[in-house]
Amino acid sequence: MARHLVKLNVNGKDHALVVESTERLLDVLRDRLNLKGVKEGCGTGDCGTCAVIMDGRLVNSCLMLAVQARDKRILTIEGVGTRERLHPVQKALMKYNAAQCGFCIPAMVLAGKNLLDHNPAPSRDDIKQAISGVLCRCTGYYKLIEAIQEAAKEIREVSV
Ligand code: FES
Ligand code: FES
Repeated sequence: MARHLVKLNVNGKDHALVVESTERLLDVLRDRLNLKGVKEGCGTGDCGTCAVIMDGRLVNSCLMLAVQARDKRILTIEGVGTRERLHPVQKALMKYNAAQCGFCIPAMVLAGKNLLDHNPAPSRDDIKQAISGVLCRCTGYYKLIEAIQEAAKEIREVSV
């Protein structure tokens, strides 16, 4: 099996890893960098729970080989907010009690954050579209959408 040196930046930290040709980005993040907030649901690109932000785009890390992430900047939930200072999407999800089992929430936060990074005044349809790739089996989405709307409002107010 061919091996490759891959440099990538994850949550602001540079890494140089030797990976096999077939190694998935999901496995590198979870098993080698210990970023367990990246969840594996389906493993086939359908559920979105493995999503990460790569160079400003939400991507499913189960569908991506680690070699394809060479020289990319990757953000996982571990790089969003801190316990003391949550990201507005995280804060709003708590306020609206929008998480139930929590399995989809890391990817949901990243989907919401990525939307607001590009569009701080999204419509309800924009939000639905932005989170449509992340399946939630628990919440019915209503509170998730409300929470992301609230986070957008907070971000706009802070930036005025
Ligand atoms: Fe990647 Fe479901 S685990 S899309
Ligand atoms: Fe359970 Fe979304 S909160 S899958």
